Amino acid sequence: MQLFIDTANLDEIRKASSYGVLDGVTTNPSLMAKEGISDQEKRIVEICGIVAGPVSAEVIATDADGMIKEAKKLAALAKNVAVKLPLTLPGLEATRTLADEGVDINLTLVFSPVQALLAAKAGAKYVSPFVGRLDDIGQDGMALVEDIIDIYGQYSYDTEIIVASVRSPLHVANAALLGADICTIPFKIITQLVAHPLTDKGLAAFLEDYRKIKSVVH
Ligand code: G3P
Repeated sequence: MQLFIDTANLDEIRKASSYGVLDGVTTNPSLMAKEGISDQEKRIVEICGIVAGPVSAEVIATDADGMIKEAKKLAALAKNVAVKLPLTLPGLEATRTLADEGVDINLTLVFSPVQALLAAKAGAKYVSPFVGRLDDIGQDGMALVEDIIDIYGQYSYDTEIIVASVRSPLHVANAALLGADICTIPFKIITQLVAHPLTDKGLAAFLEDYRKIKSVVH
């Protein structure tokens, strides 16, 4: 499973990249706003200078023509830009046009299996089911991922599934167990993936034992 980081923060991207496990980046208008960024294009270019893998940048327009125009500008920023469009009727229309022209599209805000089916049929390279937001309203986010994997497998669609709106290491583990293509996660969760109390306890014991034997030898 590929791991993307879900952020527009350059320090987080640099750090995650230095750990050697980062395959790409996803952003959205809320993540840009969180960083106080008004010039999205400049930030996307900066991110593409750090990460060679896919970098998702989202359009603001809600009509198909506006989305196509904006998407083309974003796609021209760097070779590895994937354009995020919302899963709406205009979003589908724009996806078909842009995919036919070779633009990588990430259809986002996906909350149902049939939305994901349409994303694949429209030619999206990626589909982003938001698992955490479904869990938030008492629905099973990972069950949606399982359904999408079944549907795509049934018809051999090659649209890649990005498990998004990830809130815990358990979401990441379940995404991997289900065989999702990609999981995009906030920086905090990357650090949580590493943490285990027995790792810390074991390391402390190894160091303590090493110190003991060293003092005996000398
Ligand atoms: O990639 C989509 C993600 O940023 C949404 O996450 O936590 O706002 O539901 P969240």
